[in-house]
Amino acid sequence: PRSIWLSRHGESMFNVSGQIGGDADLSPRGMMYAEKLPDLVSKIVPEGTKLKLWTSTMKRTIQTAQFLPYEKKEWKALDELDAGVCDGLTYPQIEAKYPADFKSRDDDKYNYRYRGGESYRDVVIRLEPIIMEMEREDNIMIVTHQAVLRCIYAYFMNIPQHRSPWMAIPLHTVIKLTPGAYGTEMEMFNAGI
Ligand code: F6P
Repeated sequence: PRSIWLSRHGESMFNVSGQIGGDADLSPRGMMYAEKLPDLVSKIVPEGTKLKLWTSTMKRTIQTAQFLPYEKKEWKALDELDAGVCDGLTYPQIEAKYPADFKSRDDDKYNYRYRGGESYRDVVIRLEPIIMEMEREDNIMIVTHQAVLRCIYAYFMNIPQHRSPWMAIPLHTVIKLTPGAYGTEMEMFNAGI
């Protein structure tokens, strides 16, 4: 059966400083994950599997995938949720600058749309062509971002989308999904970094 392998990008410099959004490079730890990925992936992708690898257009996903030997494609639709005016801020800075927004987001994280940016609902809608393409393809590996991965994961695991904003998707871990007639089988492989 065909499988889908999913990963967040390795830790970025913005992850280290607690800033959201942006287009930062990987941190040294994130780069260790990128370097370890070919070995980890060779253990969990059966030999001879033809695989297409999709990333976003952001440096941190492209850098994470750089050592993997597969045919690659960058999708704008896989870019991280656009935080609009909050792009580049930390959560405490957002709370100080936009207290009402910060609270609205916590009250309804799925529908909350950043000023000049996106909501989770917006991301789910822009992912529709990606999901359709995934359904058409055989084996796909996707390296993308926390919010985007939550939505893709929820779709294949049949979890209601309004719950996706709160799901924990660990860093430095490859998730293998194998859709089947009786639901999707899920396995996680942590790189130990
Ligand atoms: O902090 C990393 C990040 O990918 C941000 O760029 C993004 O805004 C955020 O996570 C999404 O997570 P949450 O919706 O929980 O704020």
